[in-house]
Amino acid sequence: MMKPRTPFVLWFTGLSGSGKSTLADKIAAYLSEKGFDFERLDGDTLRGVFPSTGFNRTERDEHIQRVGFMAGLLEKHGVIVLASFISPYRQARDFVRKRCRNFIEVYVKASLAACEARDVKGLYKKARAGQIREFTGIDDPYEEPNHPELVIDTDDESVEQSARRIIDAIQKFL
Ligand code: ADX
Repeated sequence: MMKPRTPFVLWFTGLSGSGKSTLADKIAAYLSEKGFDFERLDGDTLRGVFPSTGFNRTERDEHIQRVGFMAGLLEKHGVIVLASFISPYRQARDFVRKRCRNFIEVYVKASLAACEARDVKGLYKKARAGQIREFTGIDDPYEEPNHPELVIDTDDESVEQSARRIIDAIQKFL
């Protein structure tokens, strides 16, 4: 497994169902094919490891601080990190940015309507029905990044096109 010339943290942020994990999958496949060592950090997976984490602002902030800290440590040791978290709060994302040397914030921008129409996990339906509270985009905020390194418009762009743009952006680190 190869280490990159410059390790980096590729941080996917966006609504549930926006396509963060799908894009991270594509980048992971690309890196594997090229022989690069990387680590995936994903909201759903890590929330299984830290089961007590909830969704109010304090809980989300703690969760993002925890995983952001891990991302920074991995990066420090030469590992490429692919992180996908809703991470709805600007302040928490900026905290992670400060902990990392090369933080690439990828805003996976899909409209709420599109995410809700896909509703891959059926959670929007539950949130609309009031069965889930504090659901991002429904009764909880999502703060758009002000200066993301990349904006991926998944409403207009194919996964292949989006992945290509991300791959172009990371070339200088590999
Ligand atoms: S974050 O806001 O703290 O960054 P994270 O990305 O780890 O969220 O986890 C989000 C995932 O948790 C969603 O994709 C969804 O499957 C699930 N989930 C369950 N309840 C909620 C909720 N209230 N708001 C957002 N996501 C939720």
